Amino acid sequence: MAEVAIVTGGAGGLGSSICAALAEDGLRVVVADFRKDDAEALAAGLKSEGREALAVGVDVGDRQSVEAMIQSAMDAYGQLDHQINTAGLMGRFAVADMSEEEWDRVIRVNLRGVFLCSQAAAAAMRPRKRGRILNVASGRGIAGAPYSAHYAASKGGVIAFTKSMAVEVASDNILVNNICPGRTETPMAQAGYTDEQWQAIKAEDPLQGGLTQKDEITGLVRYLVSDAARYVTGQTFLLRTP
Ligand SMILES: NC(=O)c1ccc[n+]([C@@H]2O[C@H](COP(=O)([O-])OP(=O)(O)OC[C@H]3O[C@@H](n4cnc5c(N)ncnc54)[C@H](O)[C@@H]3O)[C@@H](O)[C@H]2O)c1
Repeated sequence: MAEVAIVTGGAGGLGSSICAALAEDGLRVVVADFRKDDAEALAAGLKSEGREALAVGVDVGDRQSVEAMIQSAMDAYGQLDHQINTAGLMGRFAVADMSEEEWDRVIRVNLRGVFLCSQAAAAAMRPRKRGRILNVASGRGIAGAPYSAHYAASKGGVIAFTKSMAVEVASDNILVNNICPGRTETPMAQAGYTDEQWQAIKAEDPLQGGLTQKDEITGLVRYLVSDAARYVTGQTFLLRTP
């Protein structure tokens, strides 16, 4: 049977590209997102092209909701091969002006969400002694992000979490890696910029810090779910110098 991948944040800018690439490669894809209607629309579009897809509404920061997401995938497809944690939030505040609520809002989704989804996915993968978890972190988790320190801290946390969990689950043949895109053209990245500013960013030379292209990300995801990456674990793949 074809492999099964859950993509959280699957209705988002990066997530939807990852879902489309994996479905095109013949995987059965679970589009999991807080925005259930958008997840359903994407899954319907994939199905209309002859792909296998299922939409699930999830709040990655809530354990019950995460466990229900994994159960939905298991009920529909009977196995889980890949858990791709793409759901994420961003906010722009100086540390001096950041409320505890804003700190918690971002950490809850970006870091706690990765923890809950990885823990529940590994539990579903362990009996088959195979599985892969791929966490979408960010170059900002390495370089920092002035005026988004909570975002940078959450992504740095994801990188450290990934390296730690990779060691713990290696004996179960579960591989855990993370990818760190640079700025990529999605609603999250464009928020707060005028069209003019965004066009200027787009015009930057990619080798001088311009945008990460979505096919760079999907290409890396395709590699990391492939047989060629069967011994790759605990690694951080940086797609742009941050
Ligand atoms: N776009 C960039 O420049 C960039 C760069 C580096 C890393 N990233 C990371 O890539 C990932 C995807 O970002 P994007 O640019 O596609 O953003 P996006 O806003 O387009 O997509 C994020 C998705 O996550 C979903 N989501 C938010 N909270 C959720 C929750 N509690 N439960 C389930 N789903 C939830 C949203 O509904 C949305 O569909 C994020 O983790 C982001 O931090 C993005």
